[in-house]
Amino acid sequence: MNQVKIGRFIAERRKQQNLTQREFADALGVSDKTVSKWECGNGMPELSSIQPICKILKIDVNELFSGEKLTDADYKKKAEENMMKLIKEAEKMKKNIVGGNVLGCVDNVEMNVCEVHKTNTEFWSTIGSECLGVTALPSWGNFFPSEDKLNLLGDLTDKKVLEIGCGNGRSLKYTADSGAAELWGLDISANQIECTKSFLQDQGINAKLICSSMEDECGLPADYFDVVYSVYGIGWTTDLNKTFKNIYSYLKKGGVFVFGWSHPIHKCVSVEDGRLIFSNSYFNEEWYRADMGDKEIMLSNRMLSTYINALADSGFMIEKLLEEIDREKAMAADSDFGKKALMLPTVFVIRARKL
Ligand SMILES: C[S@@+](CC[C@H](N)C(=O)[O-])C[C@H]1O[C@@H](n2cnc3c(N)ncnc32)[C@H](O)[C@@H]1O
Repeated sequence: MNQVKIGRFIAERRKQQNLTQREFADALGVSDKTVSKWECGNGMPELSSIQPICKILKIDVNELFSGEKLTDADYKKKAEENMMKLIKEAEKMKKNIVGGNVLGCVDNVEMNVCEVHKTNTEFWSTIGSECLGVTALPSWGNFFPSEDKLNLLGDLTDKKVLEIGCGNGRSLKYTADSGAAELWGLDISANQIECTKSFLQDQGINAKLICSSMEDECGLPADYFDVVYSVYGIGWTTDLNKTFKNIYSYLKKGGVFVFGWSHPIHKCVSVEDGRLIFSNSYFNEEWYRADMGDKEIMLSNRMLSTYINALADSGFMIEKLLEEIDREKAMAADSDFGKKALMLPTVFVIRARKL
């Protein structure tokens, strides 16, 4: 929509009706500042004001969106153009955020477990790491303080550890270097498991690797692990409660579960022209499909309360919820993502314990 043209048209028609900005605003039940904003092309009227505006200005909706009075001859053509523009605007609002990337076009979908697994496995077996980048311990995510500083996993010496969504094995190497006695990794992608295997073998590190979805029973031992962790792995599950219940069963009594994921508020806010704008509702937990180059991913944004409640329902005691920022790193990045990280959390990490 050409906001400037529409704004000028509103001002012109208002004057033709001999109305001041204040009188027009009062008739609409908005402030004169709002009217001034529209007329300067700095914003569009809310849906609820559109028909009252048209009534007062003696125009119709097609003319308002065209920013001019229309003759019968060009009325139909303009209506078609306006409809296409409105569809495009709606598409633009359907943004979503994965990692530091704003995804242009996403479609809400009915969640189908097989389809989600197939789509995401295909993505992670091909372009996943290249496309979204790899985050491995000691990093919990962009601009988040490092594990070396936070020590959320505790002393790993002689501990049995399991990583959920082990990707290419970089985090397992970190836990091996930190003294862990037994390393286990689980990932849905056979290709990622192969990457982990060859990477760890090259480093002379032994690990037991299991190719399975985290939601499924996969033969991992019960009451066995001191530490289960995941770095950007958990959010891929189709069933949070089942996943947390599984993890709870793998842990020894007193064992800890630590995981980090993209903060749900970060996924609702995008940066446009240096400003933070809400482009998605925090409450929207619908599943969506998003284009990632020549592949796709399927995900849903879950609220923080959804994670917390699922942990509690699975029997975990929550010890810590961290929403932190390494200000120096965010400032040094000099990017939209860095600017955003200075204003709101982009990553959260939770440490929970099996009692
Ligand atoms: C973001 S990576 C995490 C690995 C690493 N920390 C990283 O940043 O690259 C997500 C991993 O989760 C795996 N994954 C996705 N869905 C999964 C599921 N349902 N069960 C187990 N692993 C899954 C993917 O194959 C991928 O290796």
